[in-house]
Amino acid sequence: MQFEVIAKCHTTKARVSKMTLAHGVTMLPTFMPVATQAAIKGLTPQQMESLGVTLILNNTYHLNLRPGVDILNAADGAHKFQGWNKNLLTDSGGFQLVSLSKFTTITEEGALFLSPFTGEPTMLTPEESMNIQHAIGADIIMQLDDVVSSLTVGPRVEAAMHRSVRWLDRCIAFHQKSGKADKQNLFAIVQGGLDPNLRDKCLEDMVERKDGVAGYAIGGLSGGEEKDVFWRIIKQCAAKLPEERPRYSMGIGFAEDLLVCVALGADCVFPTRTARFGVALTHNGPLNLKLSKHAKDFSPIDENCPCPTCSSKMSRALLNHTITHETSAAHAITLHNIVFQAQVMGRAREAIINGTFPDYLRSFFAHYFGDAG
Ligand code: GUN
Ligand code: ZN
Repeated sequence: MQFEVIAKCHTTKARVSKMTLAHGVTMLPTFMPVATQAAIKGLTPQQMESLGVTLILNNTYHLNLRPGVDILNAADGAHKFQGWNKNLLTDSGGFQLVSLSKFTTITEEGALFLSPFTGEPTMLTPEESMNIQHAIGADIIMQLDDVVSSLTVGPRVEAAMHRSVRWLDRCIAFHQKSGKADKQNLFAIVQGGLDPNLRDKCLEDMVERKDGVAGYAIGGLSGGEEKDVFWRIIKQCAAKLPEERPRYSMGIGFAEDLLVCVALGADCVFPTRTARFGVALTHNGPLNLKLSKHAKDFSPIDENCPCPTCSSKMSRALLNHTITHETSAAHAITLHNIVFQAQVMGRAREAIINGTFPDYLRSFFAHYFGDAG
């Protein structure tokens, strides 16, 4: 990976950088759409590319279940499997195990779960997570971490933080021996819950391992904690992570959270919860197209939006009418929302470069939350 910081905001911690990976350049901060099962629901890779997206996320957990490592190896990786030629990041699988499976047990060896298809007990170790991510061939791969909900308190949070450091060591060792380290870039994930002391300890241990990793993520957040606590942890982590490495804040989805994280110094954020059925994002705030007030509204979602949905002048009335029984409406709104998020981040990068990022933040929030819109 080549990573270069090219501009910094003087007032906030925001910065713009250029990250060059095996599948091209991604400018940061960026928005990274999630394609859980390879391919974004309803969008072709060509559409994603034409929307200006240069980095997407696949999940190791899902790809390992289906199609599985053998087919991924036969396809020579997930880029070819899904026809995606730009950059790809995979999450390690631990988070999905905890959030999707009721039967996951964490041991020092790894995460033990029951396969949702066969019911068989299956162990995901740090080494196995690396092995799967090597078969997927993503440009950025994430360490297996021990994730606890951000609302968990007590000794489990500290134990999970230390285990994440030990698992990072196993990931680094396996990755370096694999011969894949020149093309694929391993990121560490900072844990430690909402406790600043645990975060500090984790940061210290993980920054010590800087030579073994290409970048860092801030994990264990966005699980229902208070916003000010969440922001404080992002700020603390961003301040202590090495300047010359990208910082990825995991699990962030709302446009307003993306911008706050950028202001606090995170480069790369991804939305997990956009494009909820029927909700279109606009500069004047989210628009619930299921509401009957849109039934006779013949304007597009946003007159000035360059997305395929708005430029074809598809009306809010049509979307309102079809959202409950046509996947095409969800598809049209997804297209729009991806362009919207990409635009928010693209304008943030421009503003950081032009020295106007604080003004951009003020104007965005004034419109998004209503007092100027
Ligand atoms: N996605 C959102 N948060 C997390 C996290 O803490 N760890 C991992 N691996 N994935 C995440
Ligand atoms: Zn649009």
